[in-house]
Amino acid sequence: MYINDISDLNATIQEAIQLKKNPFQFANLGKHKTIVLLFFNSSLRTRLSTEKAAKNLGMNVMILNINDAWNLEFEDGTIMSMSTSEHVKEAAQVISQYADMIAIRSFPTLKDKAKDESELVLKSFLKYSSVPIINMESATAHPLQALTDAITIEELKDKSRPKVVLSWAPHPKALPQAVANSFIKIMQFSDVDLSITHPKGYELNPEIVKHTPVHYNQEQALKNADFVYVKNWSSYTNYGQVLVEDKNWMLSKEKLGAAKFMHCLPVRRNVVVEDTVLDSDHSVVIEQANNRTYAAQVVLKQLLESM
Ligand code: CP
Repeated sequence: MYINDISDLNATIQEAIQLKKNPFQFANLGKHKTIVLLFFNSSLRTRLSTEKAAKNLGMNVMILNINDAWNLEFEDGTIMSMSTSEHVKEAAQVISQYADMIAIRSFPTLKDKAKDESELVLKSFLKYSSVPIINMESATAHPLQALTDAITIEELKDKSRPKVVLSWAPHPKALPQAVANSFIKIMQFSDVDLSITHPKGYELNPEIVKHTPVHYNQEQALKNADFVYVKNWSSYTNYGQVLVEDKNWMLSKEKLGAAKFMHCLPVRRNVVVEDTVLDSDHSVVIEQANNRTYAAQVVLKQLLESM
């Protein structure tokens, strides 16, 4: 499931907002249906909100941290004499015996761009599973987060076409581009005035950015913004590298102005954003986290209805 798989974004957002008002309206829709949540990486929000969403629809939920299972092989034709014990060909088919849908989190290597862009893990499960696959953040995309963000902006906007700025922020570790990619994509489908600001060297995939304006001066870019979405990502061109940790790019109260502050969380305080922003009424990060449930629920509901 990617952003492009949402057939009618506006209708889906409105449906999610309705589900939020009455989360148990479809409590029998998922009766006797099972979702398996597969985690190759850590999670707080995605794990709990997807489980809650599934349970709101009456589904059974099984969670597997893949590190607790057999080490999976993804390459075709490998002589499996080293560390991998089970091929995804069997694993995906086996999990499909227990699940009506499979949700997967699998981060990029941030070392091998071609491998990451091939989405090997997600695409292997798509190829070998016999049930639908849901993306809970893959190498290049985080569509459930992006849907959450679009729902949050729709709920909180006070003008028909708000100014939305995606701003890079410093971070000591190399982080994926997935959240930024999916946020840009969903905002391009939305009725907003979108722009991006980041230091030189942090240009994202041009096939995703397309004609969205990019500014290298953060303060100018943030002027008169209604929503400022802050996120770190590592370099796409110097793939996976942390090029600068310029503290001047940390979001301050002054730079935010009257805008609302958004972040997918987890966030490093006083590195990515100042305490004074996170602790102010301008921060909507908890509303965003709450909306993760209804973004997941609307996607699961639409999938259940198509079965
Ligand atoms: N925003 C987000 O995906 O949070 P988790 O990594 O905790 O799931």
